[in-house]
Amino acid sequence: MKKDYVHGYSDRESIRLEDQAECLSEILHHDSNFPQKSLILEAGCGVGAQTKIVAPKNPDSKLISIDISEDSLKKAKETIVSQEIGNVEFQHGNIFDLQFPDEYFDHVFVCFVLEHLPDPLRALSALKRVLKSGGTITLIEGDHGSTYFYPESNFAQKAINALVKLQSGNGGNALIGRQLYPLLVTAGFKNCTVSPRMVYVDSSRPALVSGFTKNTFIAMIEGVREKAVRDSVIDKEEIDKGISDLYLTTQDDGVFCYTFFKGVGYK
Ligand SMILES: C[S@@+](CC[C@H](N)C(=O)[O-])C[C@H]1O[C@@H](n2cnc3c(N)ncnc32)[C@H](O)[C@@H]1O
Repeated sequence: MKKDYVHGYSDRESIRLEDQAECLSEILHHDSNFPQKSLILEAGCGVGAQTKIVAPKNPDSKLISIDISEDSLKKAKETIVSQEIGNVEFQHGNIFDLQFPDEYFDHVFVCFVLEHLPDPLRALSALKRVLKSGGTITLIEGDHGSTYFYPESNFAQKAINALVKLQSGNGGNALIGRQLYPLLVTAGFKNCTVSPRMVYVDSSRPALVSGFTKNTFIAMIEGVREKAVRDSVIDKEEIDKGISDLYLTTQDDGVFCYTFFKGVGYK
């Protein structure tokens, strides 16, 4: 998956992941509290953008945070050390080849990873193996089909669709948020619940205009612009117009909406 990872591992993408986590921390993590003294697996921690939010919220628990990218892990470690967070251990690891015994973790946490995997169900079953009976798995994913905005623009919609197509061509699924419930149930988790987390942005919320609409969402489209044109998923003129129309949603009379999905299931 690393070779084809749609967003890549550039410095710009690391900053985008940080911005995304920072501005969404309340919406996504106000309830990311695990029982005291839990051992939590964070699978696909990337540069630690979620780790640095979830770990301090659970100071009596320990996170083991894994990723297949050594570069991302290095950045994640630097962040955690610089913020003096002491309850995280980073390990190089692959969700599909977990080196932990059965039923090792009290809880599992996975954010923005399933959308990039060709076989999310197999990932869930690998994660389920290392989860204790009675433990929970928490999944957070977006769904680009949940995007709507003002002013409306067919070009902006086409630019978003180009990313969806590109991600699907790489074996991922940018519309996976709506599938969290069926995925959890099919993977055999019990008492599954999913809560949609809508991000509503207008100019009365300047932190979200810059942190979410510009630096998370539009930055994500800009980040795949070259590849989308190179792979003939969309014309250069169309995606450029789409991106400039997306910027109109960040102006004084603009509105941007997106929904994330947070799912929890019990083993
Ligand atoms: C979009 S990033 C999300 C990172 C982080 N969870 C966040 O929300 O900021 C997806 C991450 O999943 C990692 N990843 C993808 N496939 C993986 C696998 N099979 N095992 C472990 N990590 C994986 C990638 O290397 C990347 O760092």
